[in-house]
Amino acid sequence: MTESIKEGLEGIIAGKTAISTVGKEGLDLTYRGYSIHDLAQNATFEEVVFLLLYNRLPTRNQLSGFIDQLNSLRELPAALQSVLKLIPQDTNPMDVLRTGCSMLGTLEPEDGHRTQEHIAKRLLAILPSMLLFWYQYHQGKGSIETTSESEKTIASHLLHLLYGHPATADQIRALDVALILHAEHEFNASTFTCRVITSTLSDFYSAITGGICALRGPLHGGADEAAMEQISKFHSVEEAEEGIKAMLSKKEKVMGFGHRVYKYGDPRSEIIKQWAKNLSSKTGSQVLFSIAEKIEEVMFKEKHLYPNVDFYSALTYHFLGIPTLLFTPLFVISRTAGWCAHIFEQRANNRLIRPIAEYVGPLPMPYIPIEQRTGL
Ligand code: CMC
Repeated sequence: MTESIKEGLEGIIAGKTAISTVGKEGLDLTYRGYSIHDLAQNATFEEVVFLLLYNRLPTRNQLSGFIDQLNSLRELPAALQSVLKLIPQDTNPMDVLRTGCSMLGTLEPEDGHRTQEHIAKRLLAILPSMLLFWYQYHQGKGSIETTSESEKTIASHLLHLLYGHPATADQIRALDVALILHAEHEFNASTFTCRVITSTLSDFYSAITGGICALRGPLHGGADEAAMEQISKFHSVEEAEEGIKAMLSKKEKVMGFGHRVYKYGDPRSEIIKQWAKNLSSKTGSQVLFSIAEKIEEVMFKEKHLYPNVDFYSALTYHFLGIPTLLFTPLFVISRTAGWCAHIFEQRANNRLIRPIAEYVGPLPMPYIPIEQRTGL
């Protein structure tokens, strides 16, 4: 029995999917058959969301109709605003999204009146509003308006809410590409969590809330924040080289490196690295970018490990002026697209996900009456 156990389910095929290909020999990362390189180069995040949800690229008319629908779903119900105001200022924003998503499920439950497509669109549209409403309220900006008609896309809406004024075209495109790259990734931990919850015939909000919980950890989505903290600790490339070598000698993990599936590099990393580089030269923060490249070089020399999507995404967000504590919530906003597609797929051909474990506990023994227990 022990021989067949794969710790962490490594390499186990746990189901079928037609949504994306990750780490398949000879195949790029694809969403519904389209290469991530093509999508990051040519598509918008909304096109990618449409593709993931409806299994085809939209026509121009379909896309503008889809964007209008998303825009009409940004509003925060009053009860949700009240809850967001009550969540303390020093809360981890991932907990804000977790609570907000769960609360929305009580206000607009999946009860037969709302289709799963409607809930998917509602979540995609409202999560940025939730995050920035809570954030700005606790920055002393009061109850901000989240329904702006002028900002058509999720990236431009989000940056406008954060900056308090419209972002530049370059800033919007950088965030759009980051959202595209994070939108979907097969049976990663959070998506698998969504599928497990869905497989019990639970509701849509429960599955997404579970996805948020799984994404929060630093071995998964939380790695971008940890990577940024790590990069910012160093003031020069020399310090970075020494510091990373010291971490490795103590067997510490360097966040933003390594991947369960990609052993020879994450295809998303090179794409987002170019954006980090581009923004670093525009914002004049080239030292941080050089430090990051030095860390990449040391990690390859010492461990043959490559950066994953989180490493240079962290720098990209940083150069966009996004506070570090909002990095992982941005991942939620993007990955909601993939989670929703997987919930649809799981429901279309559902079977309860219920693996088994090898028992390694004590052999059966007689029950000990309470008065005879020694407490040892
Ligand atoms: N820094 C230093 N050593 C590492 C790292 C790292 N980032 N990643 C793997 N290793 C080493 C690890 O110490 C182990 O060495 P040894 O065999 O000598 O004990 C070996 O590589 C295998 O590591 P593992 O943790 O058993 O590999 P895994 O497949 O279970 O883990 C991983 C994959 C992503 C959890 C891991 O690489 C890691 O912890 N990376 C840092 C966190 C991170 O960046 N997570 C983001 C993942 S990708 C995007 C996402 O999902 O958000």
